[in-house]
Amino acid sequence: MDFSLTPEQREIQALAREVAEAEIAPHAAAWDRDHTFPRQVFSKLGELGLMGVCVPEELGGAGADFLSYILVLEELSRADAGVGVTVAVHTSAATLPIIAFGTEEQRQRFVPALASGGVIGAFALTEAESGSDAGSLRSAAVRDGDGWRISGTKQWITNGSHAGTFLVFVRTDTSTDGPRGVSAFLLDGSDVEVTREEKLGLHSSSTADIRFEGAFVGRERLLHDENGGFTVAMATLDGGRIGIAAQAVGIAQAAYDVARAYALERRQFGSRIADFQAIQFKLADMATEIDAARLLTYRAAWLKQEGLPHTLAGAEAKLFASSVARRQTGEAIQVLGGYGYTKEFPVERYYRDAKVTEIYEGTSEIQRIVIARNILAQHENRRPADEAHGPG
Ligand code: CAA
Repeated sequence: MDFSLTPEQREIQALAREVAEAEIAPHAAAWDRDHTFPRQVFSKLGELGLMGVCVPEELGGAGADFLSYILVLEELSRADAGVGVTVAVHTSAATLPIIAFGTEEQRQRFVPALASGGVIGAFALTEAESGSDAGSLRSAAVRDGDGWRISGTKQWITNGSHAGTFLVFVRTDTSTDGPRGVSAFLLDGSDVEVTREEKLGLHSSSTADIRFEGAFVGRERLLHDENGGFTVAMATLDGGRIGIAAQAVGIAQAAYDVARAYALERRQFGSRIADFQAIQFKLADMATEIDAARLLTYRAAWLKQEGLPHTLAGAEAKLFASSVARRQTGEAIQVLGGYGYTKEFPVERYYRDAKVTEIYEGTSEIQRIVIARNILAQHENRRPADEAHGPG
C-alpha cells in the first residue's frame, strides 16, 4: 500500500491549487453575492487542460488518471464549490459517459470540444416527480422516422443555463414505468429551453430547470443501447459521486483552514482561543474527519482508475465526506462565533455550499441504500469485487 501521490499527480494538484488561489478564490465571495457564473474561468481551466483532466489525449484531454482529476476537484472546490461542481458535472457526468458508452463517432464529435472547455456539459436525469426514484422519470422520446422526438422537463440541472451538450435520460419504452424503459441521448444546447434557476448556495454555479419540446434526434444521438440508458446513468453516478466526495473534502478543508487561522489569532480572556481545549477539540475533530473523508475519496478514485468495481467505495466516500463537510463547516462558524455568521468571513458560504453535497448525485439516504445493497449482496452482478475492500 502506497499513500504517496505520483510526481504527475502532485504536479496537477499544484497547478490546480495555483490557478484556484490566483483566479478563483479572490472572486468567490463576489460571485456568490452576485450569482455570477464565471464562464471565463472555464475557458482558462480548459487552456490548462483542467476541463478534461482524465480524458485521453487523443480526444483532446490531458490524459491524466482519475485520481488526478479528483485532486483538481478538491482544489477548485476549496476555492469555490460552485466552480468545483461545474467541472465535476461537466467531466464525470457528461464527458466520461460519452467516452465509456459512446460510439467512436460520438467520441470524436463531442469529447474534444468538452475537454477543451469550449463547450460545457450537463447531465439531465432528475425531474419534478423523479428524484431519488430516478427510474420513474417521465420525459419521453417518441419514434419519428429514423429517430425520436424528445419532450419533457428536467429539474435542478447543473450547468443547465450554459451547457452546449446535454446527456439526457428519457423514456423510450412507455410500456414500462421503471428503469428498464429509459434511454440516454446527447442533445445540443439549442434543443433546450431554460425555465427557472434559484437555490440556497453554490451561487457561482448554474442549476436550471429545463424543457425540450419535440426536439428531433437521430440514432447517432442515442448513447449506448435503446432502453439501456439507466445503466449509463447509474454507472456515471458511480464515478460522479467520487467527484462530489472530493468537492465536499475541498469545502471542509477550506472551512478548517479559516477556523484554524482564526483560532490562532483571536484573543479572548487574555489568550488565543486556540489555547482553549474546547476549540482545540473542534480543530482536532475537523482535521481527523477531513483526513478520513479524503482517504475514502482517494481510495474510491483509485479503484475506479484501476478498472475495479467502485460503486460501494464511491457511495461510502460521498456519504461520509458530505456529512463531514456539512458538520465541519458548521463547526467552523462556531469557532468564529459571531464573525462566522457574517459575510466578513467565507465560512457562512462554505456552510451553505456544503449542504447540497448531502443531496445531489444521490442523497445520503440513497448512498446508504447503495451501500446496503452491496454489503448485503442484493446485487449479485456487482458483488464479488466490490466486496474486496469492504468489511468482512
Ligand atoms: N452500475 C450499472 N448498472 C446499475 C447500477 C450501477 N451502479 N446500479 C443499478 N444498475 C442497473 C441494475 O443492474 C438494473 O439493471 P437490470 O434492469 O438490467 O437488472 C437497473 O440499473 C435498475 O437498477 P435498480 O433495480 O437498482 O434500480 P432502482 O430503481 O432500485 O434504483 C437507485 C436504484 C440506486 C435508488 C437509483 O434510482 C439512484 O441512484 N437514485 C438516485 C438518483 C441520483 O443519484 N440522482 C442524481 C442526479 S444527478 C446530479 O445530482 C448531478 C448534479 O447536479 C451534481
